[in-house]
Parts: sequence; structure tokens; C-alpha cells
Amino acid sequence: MRPNDLSVGEMAARAGVPVSTLHYYEAEGLIESWRTPANHRRYDRRELRRIAIVRVALTVGVSLKEVKAVLDGVPRDKAVGKDDWAAAASPWADMLDEKIELLQRLRDQMGFCIGCGCLSLDNCPLYNPEDVLGENGAGPRRWTGEADERA
Ligand code: FES
Repeated sequence: MRPNDLSVGEMAARAGVPVSTLHYYEAEGLIESWRTPANHRRYDRRELRRIAIVRVALTVGVSLKEVKAVLDGVPRDKAVGKDDWAAAASPWADMLDEKIELLQRLRDQMGFCIGCGCLSLDNCPLYNPEDVLGENGAGPRRWTGEADERA
């Protein structure tokens, strides 16, 4: 075993995920392992960083497909530095900015009319009378920034 390699149990414990999650991530091409002569799975410790990125990305609503696209851009055939990670993550900038803006709106507008059609808040008759925002389409029209000026 190479000094930085971890068994599947060690990897799961350090990453904070079940072994089945490691197998799933590997099947999806997000992480890689190698096999010992006894056919035991081993992981390079560097795979922990990939798992951490997957977990955080999924938590904030980034899809596995989007995560894989970034991880595929990180070289495996050389020592990886921060510039490699930054270059791989650069396509995420706009998408993450959009998610941050939506999360900030969720935080800031939870107590106000978001144009969802519920008409349940005291201020909804003022901001969305008779659900006029529903004429623009489905969902929370004001929260997604899709409300027009009629309401
Ligand atoms: S909060 Fe639902 S329509 Fe206003």
C-alpha cells in the first residue's frame, strides 16, 4: 500500500460518508480507486478533496453532472495545485453567483410576499392581489425575479 492510500473503511470514515456513497461516487466517475493484489479497494488520499467538493456542491444544489464536469477538468496525471482547481471551477462562477443571489432572496424575503400564489400573508393582497402574478407563469414569481411591474 502506498503511504497516502486509504482503505475503503478509512476513506469513508475520513470523508464522513458511507462506504456505499464511495462506491456510488466511483461508479459516477467522481472519484477513482485502485485494487490491491488481493482485490481490496484503495484510495489515494487526494480523493478526499474531490469527495469534499462533491458533498458541498450537492448541499448547495449543484448537480452531480455539474460537479463531474468540474472534477473532470482537474488533472490526475500530475501534482494538482490551487491554479488547477481554480481553472476547473471557473465555469461555475456565474452559476454559483446565481445560486447565491437566490439563497439571499430566500433568506431576506421569507417573511414577505414572494408571488407564489398562496395569498396567505397579510401583505399579499397588496403585492399580489388575487394572484395576478400567476398570470405570468408558475412558481414564486417575485422570488425568482420573474414578476412583472403589474403587481
Ligand atoms: S406569498 Fe404567496 S402570493 Fe404572496
